[in-house]
Amino acid sequence: MEGNIFEKILGQDSLFIDRKAFDHAFEPSRLPHREHEVDALVRNLVDALNGHIPSNMLLYGVPGSGKTVVTRFVLGQLRQKGKEMGQIVNTYEINCRNVDTKYRVVQTIASQLARRGDPPVPFTGWPTDRVLETLVMRMNRAGGVHIIVLDEVDNLVDRAGDDLLYALTSLNTVLDNGRCSIIGISNDLHFTQHLDPRVSSRLSQEDVVFHPYVATEIQNILGERASMGIREGVLDEGVIKLCAALAAQEHGDARRALDLLRISVQKSEQRAQSKVDTRHVRLAQSQLEYDQVTPVLKTLPLHQKLVLFSICLNEENGLRNISTGEVYRTYADACGKIGIEPLTTRRVSSLLNELDTIGLIMARNVSKGRGGRSKQVNSAIPKAIDAISLMSENEPLINEASLGKYHLQGHL
Ligand SMILES: Nc1ncnc2c1ncn2[C@@H]1O[C@H](COP(=O)(O)OP(=O)(O)OP(=O)(O)O)[C@@H](O)[C@H]1O
Ligand SMILES: [Mg+2]
Repeated sequence: MEGNIFEKILGQDSLFIDRKAFDHAFEPSRLPHREHEVDALVRNLVDALNGHIPSNMLLYGVPGSGKTVVTRFVLGQLRQKGKEMGQIVNTYEINCRNVDTKYRVVQTIASQLARRGDPPVPFTGWPTDRVLETLVMRMNRAGGVHIIVLDEVDNLVDRAGDDLLYALTSLNTVLDNGRCSIIGISNDLHFTQHLDPRVSSRLSQEDVVFHPYVATEIQNILGERASMGIREGVLDEGVIKLCAALAAQEHGDARRALDLLRISVQKSEQRAQSKVDTRHVRLAQSQLEYDQVTPVLKTLPLHQKLVLFSICLNEENGLRNISTGEVYRTYADACGKIGIEPLTTRRVSSLLNELDTIGLIMARNVSKGRGGRSKQVNSAIPKAIDAISLMSENEPLINEASLGKYHLQGHL
């Protein structure tokens, strides 16, 4: 091989001007179609600058609807205004998917308030009350207003209960030099139903719902990002439109749309092409689907895999809308072939519900007349993905089951 193997790629002109514009952590300075949400936050948080206590807030919305980016933007502006006005504004952003215990959340905030000479609060080991006391002491010491953002807060409540929320929403009663307000962010509209009523009424003093973006809104978001991040003239007409349409179908997820656009450009670059067209978007879409589904398929528990295997097998045989009875028959047959005991129909029925919840199948109830109902299922796995091989990869029993002969119902 002539020359250094990196040279060819290094010399290639990138179609991006700034790939960072597509990083998930990128914070755009304009947020089209989120004016109402920004306004709701600003109207409430202005109390932080007026010497009052802003209400606690709950922000809801589907993934990719801009909850995190809007909150960061508003808090950034609030800190800046606070500085200009000589007001103390402390903000904390905790992602409760990573920081998922009461202790860790309190420890994280307390550590952010540490000053030189303070003893470090250890990651574990202290009684929770002691960490909480340290936090209150440091919040009083800092003074001013404290805005605590608990992003993806439903994760924390699922795992650790609502103890933390109770403690944090009580802080104002124990702070004598400082005011505190909580912003919870969640995907789950019904999240407060899992909370103690005292906690939920304190936390959701003001709710803001981020509606899912529609295709035209996503087009505008993509258009702005493209002009920052992608060289002019590179995108064929229709590329942004298609990315937006695909992401709009997927519950209006702006993150998904940005990923689609970035991967489409990369697909073109990998082929050393100078333009991006809708074929690249299609490639990007299948890659995203593949990346999304593959790890889930590979790591399903054995019986889940066998149930899904039974559905796939029937579909390979040309059958759609398979009844749960038919799924069970094939499943029991497969269990027999690999020498394991099948679960009860009741258990299999709940496994089907779980597969439906994680989006690998679509189940629907159909009326069978005279009040009878039955369930029909279809696979929701994209056609290009070979589910049975993927499930077999780290589960030899699936492979063994797939080698057997089955008596499947014929075409209906
Ligand atoms: N109105 C907007 N203008 C520009 N970019 C946006 C807008 N809304 C969302 N984005 C971008 O879309 C991506 C997803 O937004 P964000 O992370 O805020 O979603 P989210 O609602 O917090 O989702 P999740 O529930 O999954 O955490 C980010 O890259 C963000 O920059
Ligand atoms: Mg978020």
